[in-house]
Amino acid sequence: MIRPAELIQRKRDGEELGDGEIAELVLGYARGDVPDYQMAAFAMAVYFRGLSPRETFALTDAMIRSGETLDLGAALGRKVVDKHSTGGVGDKTSLALGPIVAACGVPVGKMSGRGLGHTGGTLDKLESIPGYRVELTTEEFVEQVRDVGLAIIGQTGDLVPADKQLYGLRDVTATVDQLSLIAASIMSKKLAAGAQAIVLDVKVGDGAFMKTIDDARRLAETMIALGDEAGREVVCLLTDMDQPLGAAVGNALEVREALATVRGNGPADFSELVLYASARLLALSDLGVGEAEGRRRAEAAVADGSAEAMWRRWIEAQGGTADESTLPAAPVVRVVEAPDDGAVARLGAIRIGNAALRLGAGRRTKADTIDHAVGVVCIRKRGDEVERGDPLAEVHARDEASAAEAVEAVLSAYELGPEPPHRHGVVLEVMS
Ligand code: URA
Repeated sequence: MIRPAELIQRKRDGEELGDGEIAELVLGYARGDVPDYQMAAFAMAVYFRGLSPRETFALTDAMIRSGETLDLGAALGRKVVDKHSTGGVGDKTSLALGPIVAACGVPVGKMSGRGLGHTGGTLDKLESIPGYRVELTTEEFVEQVRDVGLAIIGQTGDLVPADKQLYGLRDVTATVDQLSLIAASIMSKKLAAGAQAIVLDVKVGDGAFMKTIDDARRLAETMIALGDEAGREVVCLLTDMDQPLGAAVGNALEVREALATVRGNGPADFSELVLYASARLLALSDLGVGEAEGRRRAEAAVADGSAEAMWRRWIEAQGGTADESTLPAAPVVRVVEAPDDGAVARLGAIRIGNAALRLGAGRRTKADTIDHAVGVVCIRKRGDEVERGDPLAEVHARDEASAAEAVEAVLSAYELGPEPPHRHGVVLEVMS
């Protein structure tokens, strides 16, 4: 039997641990034999010393072995593709991409997470839809993917329980933003859920865990290597998180924006990312099409209404009301006006994310409840020119006091300059 204290010490001193040692530690933690305080110390040692590629794979593999795995591909008799984001502000990509890809004939069965801190979670967004059930049994999940073509649920308790525990621990011990730990956490869930090909959206910028393109590339390389080792195809999109994605930040607001995008009326940057990622997924699927044809089909599904029809079938199959008028709306809406003439030089994602968090759209601790109605709508984005008094953004709040505080916070996220900055697309790089 391993002694956790010895492994912590060896990792602290920069040693490489063996596969069996890592497996014993992780499986012991999942069983409750290794206490939180030792696992927290181990995570901190990893934070400072890192993990070798071999150790990262051993950690991923052990986390997968801590629970059950799902072979969705075998259950459906299809090649299963999946998509995951490393987390950002205003990131509602799965909500729009799911119906588009499913409408193109590729089944989508997605397990998503909740938001923590300034990043939002797909499950919280979906829970703003009255009646929507995020918890399905594995049988219900498989059946819905087979019959409807699309299901998005919370990770079942049996899948990668070690990650669930470890993620919660990392979140309160300042050890989330460590590259190997993020890579193992994300890839263990994707591999355990049976995806054969995965599109990973690696967010880069002030609203993301990875602040620089170099760090994002290293995370992408690590996840691609983990996929390789497990015999799965992985494509990483490195995408802009220096400003919020799209306009809406906040749960019900984001659901409305995702639906508008499925109808072809979404914000430009968000629509571009959704169509780009959809095309990549279709090209990795068993449809036998390339990326250009994938893009054409994704655009056609939006234009001919089949993606919207899929949205309705999916939401209703999962118990929700697809009629957007039933989404909660905040009682107080305040406009944030441009203090001067100029162009938006910067729109800080983390400031907008934190403003939405303080309005009640997110959780500061795991026990917090969410106000699904509140949030921020960034009407103007980086590069847009404005005149003094033009609306920059809207704050959707529960009361006047929180609205006033958020208006100040949102204003501080906007930096106006004399000239628009150099424009670039939302997809910065693609690695595979
Ligand atoms: N998302 C995850 O699932 N895990 C991490 O560690 C970070 C982001």
